[in-house]
Amino acid sequence: MAESIIDEHPMLRHGLGRLKGKVAIITGANSGIGRATARLFGREGAKVVCCDIQETIAPRIDDLIKREGGEAIFANIDVSKQADCDRMIAAALETFGDLDILYNNAGAGIRKKLHEHTDEEWNFVLNINLNAMFRGARAAIPHFIKKRSGNIVTTASTFGLLASPDYPGYCATKAAIVNLTREMALDYGPYGIRVNCICPGAIETPRFRGFPPKATLGDGMTDEQREKMGSSNKALLRMGRPEEIAYGVLFLVSDEASFVTGHALVIDGGQTIDA
Ligand SMILES: NC(=O)c1ccc[n+]([C@@H]2O[C@H](COP(=O)([O-])OP(=O)(O)OC[C@H]3O[C@@H](n4cnc5c(N)ncnc54)[C@H](O)[C@@H]3O)[C@@H](O)[C@H]2O)c1
Repeated sequence: MAESIIDEHPMLRHGLGRLKGKVAIITGANSGIGRATARLFGREGAKVVCCDIQETIAPRIDDLIKREGGEAIFANIDVSKQADCDRMIAAALETFGDLDILYNNAGAGIRKKLHEHTDEEWNFVLNINLNAMFRGARAAIPHFIKKRSGNIVTTASTFGLLASPDYPGYCATKAAIVNLTREMALDYGPYGIRVNCICPGAIETPRFRGFPPKATLGDGMTDEQREKMGSSNKALLRMGRPEEIAYGVLFLVSDEASFVTGHALVIDGGQTIDA
């Protein structure tokens, strides 16, 4: 009997071939926003290099994409290491012969006051959230310059636009990503390379559902926690779904967004709209 899988992404629709023939790298691809985006890219016809440091979640994202008829490989990549970032670009070029899209998504945060951080904790957040954006882009850009086209999207946060208590490294790095996006868009636009970032509000991902993540929303997070997180998204008053971010990323990397660059796309259920 075929194994039945709970569909963890019920909001994803069938693909329309919007990324047909494109090769995409996604970091943090085995969970949350990265996982939903990798799955959507696969459905839209992209060949996906799924990068993550953890591969124990079943089915692993590349298997999930292949089960749906898409093309994907998995690469065990730690985005905080330059050698790994170089290896993920090489994996795309060696396996699929090209690279069109880099989605730098993996991120981390430590909730405590600034004066309580050790150097190790501070550098951990800087390395994964900011330095990895630099390292991934540095590895991909020579290829993009050579082919005079390319697309980079990074995951920032509404906490890159507004502050959140007890989250100094996270807020600082996510704000840095927003302006690094603009800077890179200026430098590389003349080479046909677009660079954008996405700013999610509170999204229901395994970060909030316990680890390893549960496939259903009922597990790992109490209703009280969900209500509190959801109410921070002030207009829609619910947590967002990873699929709702994935569709924003899809727009940014698609040909329909050919005049969009240096942009921070906010998808936050209204979290940032009031004074
Ligand atoms: N969930 C939210 O509410 C929210 C809101 C705003 C921004 N974000 C951002 O979205 C991104 C994805 O978060 P998520 O909520 O989907 O989290 P998640 O924990 O569900 O997924 C993150 C994935 O990144 C991987 N990862 C962590 N460190 C890594 C490393 N060094 N190298 C490679 N992979 C690594 C993890 O193994 C995990 O699979 C992050 O950048 C996060 O800051 C999330």
